[in-house]
Amino acid sequence: MSKSNDRTLRFYNEVLGLDRLHYGIWQPDDELTYDNLKKAQIRYEDFLIENIPEGVKTVLDVGCGTGVLSKKLLEAGYAVEGLSPDINQKKVFTENVKAEFHHSTFDKFEANKKYDCLIMSESAQYIKLHRLFENARQSLKQDGYLMICDYFRLEDASGIHGKSGHYFHIFKEQMQESGFKLITERDITDSVTKTLDIAKYFADRAILAADIGTEKIRRKHPHLSKFILWLFRNKIDKVNRQMELIDSKAFKQNKTYRFFLLQNIS
Ligand SMILES: C[S@@+](CC[C@H](N)C(=O)[O-])C[C@H]1O[C@@H](n2cnc3c(N)ncnc32)[C@H](O)[C@@H]1O
Repeated sequence: MSKSNDRTLRFYNEVLGLDRLHYGIWQPDDELTYDNLKKAQIRYEDFLIENIPEGVKTVLDVGCGTGVLSKKLLEAGYAVEGLSPDINQKKVFTENVKAEFHHSTFDKFEANKKYDCLIMSESAQYIKLHRLFENARQSLKQDGYLMICDYFRLEDASGIHGKSGHYFHIFKEQMQESGFKLITERDITDSVTKTLDIAKYFADRAILAADIGTEKIRRKHPHLSKFILWLFRNKIDKVNRQMELIDSKAFKQNKTYRFFLLQNIS
């Protein structure tokens, strides 16, 4: 797994104490609270499940993380399997989800069956584009569905945001050439970025708290103090880069967060 991917996952796990590894869908009036962040992440999972077309029975959760979505899919009656190249996720998934797990990247995955639906929830960005569509076609039944929910880089993206995610225009070009039909596309950028705002909110206070350096704050705000340790574990220039990473304005200038439902008509 790449260093930046590892950093993201550690951020969610160690700093926020969350077992969910995705942004979430916020409501416009939601206050920036830890509870609302958790609710937003659950709302996002429900949104994905609601958008699974009728008739789908078998699902491969590609880049399944800790298996939270897979578990929900099982409970909703789908025959689900998980896939991740990460050895820790393999352990967590197999302990918590009663479903088959494939320990592999999707790029190298050779399916021994054809699925009705593939879900890539914030995992498409890690899969090489030419492998993504080709392997999705190979792994899906005729008329099967590919669901992708992720962020993409805009063409003129710069700074730290210009370093991750597929270029949106290239993704769209390849999608059009791929033998998939576009069923749904939704721009949900504005609904996800409060996750960055809450991280920024914590970070600003963490910096302030680190300045003051009182133990009282650490006891009263355990998440906050974990954040301080995370933020300051490296040198100060790194801190500045992390701060840009959680700046929702910079995110919106450089990225777009999209939901896609595609159908394999090749
Ligand atoms: C940000 S997490 C998202 C996890 C989960 N889908 C969710 O929504 O919470 C990214 C996931 O993609 C996986 N991943 C990284 N590189 C991958 C690849 N080449 N093929 C498939 N999955 C990959 C990671 O191990 C991780 O499970």
